[in-house]
Amino acid sequence: MSEFTAFRLYPGESNKPQGRLVRLTPEDLSPGNVLVRTAFASVNYKDALAAHGINRIIRTLPRIGGIDLVGHVAASADPRLREGDAVIVQGSGVGVDHDGGYADYARVPGDWVLPLPAGLDLREAAFIGVAGYTAALSIDLMALNGLAPERGKVVVNGATGGVASLAIDMLAAQGYEVSAITGKPAAHDYLKALGAREILGREVAGGEARPLEAARWAGAVDSVGGEALAWLTRTMQPEGVIAAFGNVGGAVLETTVLPFILRGVRLIGVNANSPMPLRRRIWDRLASDLKPRHLETVGRTIGLADLPEAFQRLLDARVQGRLIVDLALRHNLP
Ligand SMILES: NC(=O)c1ccc[n+]([C@@H]2O[C@H](COP(=O)([O-])OP(=O)(O)OC[C@H]3O[C@@H](n4cnc5c(N)ncnc54)[C@H](OP(=O)(O)O)[C@@H]3O)[C@@H](O)[C@H]2O)c1
Repeated sequence: MSEFTAFRLYPGESNKPQGRLVRLTPEDLSPGNVLVRTAFASVNYKDALAAHGINRIIRTLPRIGGIDLVGHVAASADPRLREGDAVIVQGSGVGVDHDGGYADYARVPGDWVLPLPAGLDLREAAFIGVAGYTAALSIDLMALNGLAPERGKVVVNGATGGVASLAIDMLAAQGYEVSAITGKPAAHDYLKALGAREILGREVAGGEARPLEAARWAGAVDSVGGEALAWLTRTMQPEGVIAAFGNVGGAVLETTVLPFILRGVRLIGVNANSPMPLRRRIWDRLASDLKPRHLETVGRTIGLADLPEAFQRLLDARVQGRLIVDLALRHNLP
C-alpha cells in the first residue's frame, strides 16, 4: 500500500511532545490484525492533555494520538470482520499506548473493533465518540441507581464541554429537567437549544463549605471534579445520584461522609473504557433511545492540520461542543 498522512507526536522540548504531519505506511503503525481506513476521529480533552504531555498520558513516542475513530475495515485477518465493514474503535489504549485516530489508517486487534450499530452513520458515530459514550454510560448507570425524571432536577457541569453537551441533549430527550453550569455566558442560547431549562454560572459551585447545604439535585453529571464535585456532594437530594468521570477542575475531592450516610447520596465512578459487552449495549442505546438529537449543533469538523489549535482551545476551555477530524479534509497537508 502507498503512503498515507498522519499527525504524529514526537519527543519535544521540556517533555512536551511535538506533533507534526508525516507520511507513513501501515507497517509504521502499532500492530493489529485489522486495518481500518479512518473516516473521522474526535478531539477530546484527554487528547489535548496527551498532545501537551500533561499527566504523562502517552509514555512512548512517537505515537499517533486520537482516543477514538470510526471508519471502514480495509483489511482483516479476523474472521468476524470483513473488508468494507463500518466500525467504531475507542479506548483500549488507542491513541495512548497504541496508535490512534489521527491518521488515514489505524491497525488494531479485532477484539477492540465494534461494528457500527444500525441507526447511526459514521459521521454521527464520530460526533458521539468517547464523549457521547461517556454521557450515555453515565445516564444508564444513574438510572440503574434509582434516578428517574420524576425525582427532580439533574445538573450538568462543564456544560458546553463535549461529554456535557451530549449529556444535556440525551437527558432532556429522556424527560429530565436539566440545569446547566457553565463558565461561558455567551453559550446560553446553545445550552437552551440542547434542552437545558436553567443555566447557572460556574461560581455557584463553591463558596461556604457546610457539610450539607440545601438539597437541590436528584442527579448530577460531573465533568469537573475537585471543588465542583465536592459542592455537588453537599447539594444532592436524599438518594441523589452523581456520575463522576472528569477532572478539568481538579483531581482532589474534599468532602465529608455526611452526604453519603445522612442523605444516601450515591457517587458513581464512570470509566468509558468498558468491557466489550457493555460497550455494545451502550452503543446500541446511542443508536436508538439515547441517540442525541442535536449532533449537528454540538459538533464541528476540522482537518488534521487544525489539531494543534484545537488542543490549545480545549485546554483553555474555549471549545463549545465537539470537534471531530474529518480525514477527507486536506487543507495544507503534505
Ligand atoms: N472517565 C472517563 O472515562 C472519561 C471519559 C470522557 C471524558 N472524561 C473526562 O471528562 C472531562 C470532560 O471531557 P470533555 O472531552 O467533555 O472535555 P471538554 O470538551 O474540554 O469540556 C470540559 C468543559 O469543562 C468546563 N471547564 C473547563 N475548565 C474548567 C475549570 N477549570 N473549572 C470548571 N469547569 C471547567 C468547560 O465548560 P464550560 O465553559 O461550559 O464551563 C469545558 O468546556 C475531562 O476531564 C475528561 O478527561 C473522562
